[in-house]
Amino acid sequence: MPGVHLSASILDADWSNLRAAVQEAERAGADSIHIDVMDGHYVHNLTFGIKLFRDLRPHTGLPLIAHLEINNPDDFITDFAEAGSDMIIVHEDTCLDLHATVHQIRAYNVKVGVALNPDRPLDALSNLLDRMDLLLIMSVYPGSGGQEFLDRVLRKVETARRLVAGLEYAPAIGMDGGINRHTIQACIRAGADFLVLGSALFRAGKLKDNLAELRSLTTAG
Ligand code: DX5
Ligand code: ZN
Repeated sequence: MPGVHLSASILDADWSNLRAAVQEAERAGADSIHIDVMDGHYVHNLTFGIKLFRDLRPHTGLPLIAHLEINNPDDFITDFAEAGSDMIIVHEDTCLDLHATVHQIRAYNVKVGVALNPDRPLDALSNLLDRMDLLLIMSVYPGSGGQEFLDRVLRKVETARRLVAGLEYAPAIGMDGGINRHTIQACIRAGADFLVLGSALFRAGKLKDNLAELRSLTTAG
């Protein structure tokens, strides 16, 4: 069985040197690079745009994942696909017609992720689960790194894991927010197999050591 996918979120990296941050994450053994795109409307923060994907693309072999925390993501799918994203994650509550959005992303041969905020139910997605590559269950309210993990979303992860068990094509079950050495094992026990790591990698200590410790916790008990 393949291991848990660990995706490095550069939100808490040093923005004056993002190429180095991405390459350090790659050397340390991250499985992908997670880039939080925020528009100041859907969440109260402004972060990265399309050009960053184009600029980083030649400097890493890792998949670049665009987490679109923006209103009207449909307007930008072509741009992020053409800029070199390997996966585009949209928030289900930002799409007028989620089926159409999923279809649009897939048409570019880009993987599809759908994110669900802490207070949103799984129900809205149940008939779409086999169309996506990743169901990303937010374990913080999107907007910033370093927030406290919301334990209550673990129940939703358990339910999602049960729902996808019977599918011929099951998405990965991901979690994003507040994942660190204290919370990572609960995520895995609940059924997550794709974890986004931000401040736990980039805020303190050496990225390589942080990732090695977290990786070892994914297989320990
Ligand atoms: C929050 C972002 C996360 C963020 C997570 O809106 O979606 O990807 O980087 O950061 P941590 O791991 O510090 O909670
Ligand atoms: Zn994110």
